[in-house]
Amino acid sequence: MNTESLWVQTSEVAHMSEAGRAGHPSHAVVTEHIATLHSGAPFELLDCGVISGVTYHHLLQAGLEVDYTGIDIGEAAIADCRERHPEARWRQMSVTDLAFSDNSFDVVNCRHLLECLPYYETAVREMFRVARRTVVICMFQVREPEALLRRETANGYIWFNRYAPGPFEALLHSLSESVEIVDVPFDHRPNRVYFCTKRSA
Ligand SMILES: C[S@@+](CC[C@H](N)C(=O)[O-])C[C@H]1O[C@@H](n2cnc3c(N)ncnc32)[C@H](O)[C@@H]1O
Repeated sequence: MNTESLWVQTSEVAHMSEAGRAGHPSHAVVTEHIATLHSGAPFELLDCGVISGVTYHHLLQAGLEVDYTGIDIGEAAIADCRERHPEARWRQMSVTDLAFSDNSFDVVNCRHLLECLPYYETAVREMFRVARRTVVICMFQVREPEALLRRETANGYIWFNRYAPGPFEALLHSLSESVEIVDVPFDHRPNRVYFCTKRSA
């Protein structure tokens, strides 16, 4: 029996591009917001939990001059992205322990990842630590009641958590000068996007 996280082992890197996931309108909401901040000038962005490189594709399609670094815990995801996009930087690491100095990136982005962790706090604090100004977090499971669910399979485990908005948003406010919240409806898969401006030290 394998006792690792399924995300570490997965080789199904195209999965998140299927079933309309790559076309979810939350991608456009995020890309447009980043474009309003950084259109026409180069900027450094860290993307956490890249899988198929879906966010990178949206940023390229929007014509943004992004100096992109993507991280993921999955070896196959990183190898696949590196092969298809050698012009960007791809590193295997956990969002809970980012091997970057404080204030390294203009924007830190994280989509549909925090629900896959045992809890969100360490990851959120790490993303704010390495961000200079902007942290963008897109969630697919933020609503009452909070439920932490660790599914066991023969091949490993996977977290599939739903977080209560109150404490999560209180944490974001404690780290931010401002937090803009945008709800993105889409069939049975609504998303909530948080655009955070980091509090200066
Ligand atoms: C649900 S997918 C979301 C992928 C993509 N961001 C999207 O929006 O479609 C979660 C991704 O986070 C990665 N992941 C899971 N745990 C991680 C961790 N601790 N650190 C970094 N990435 C992790 C998984 O390997 C997977 O690629």
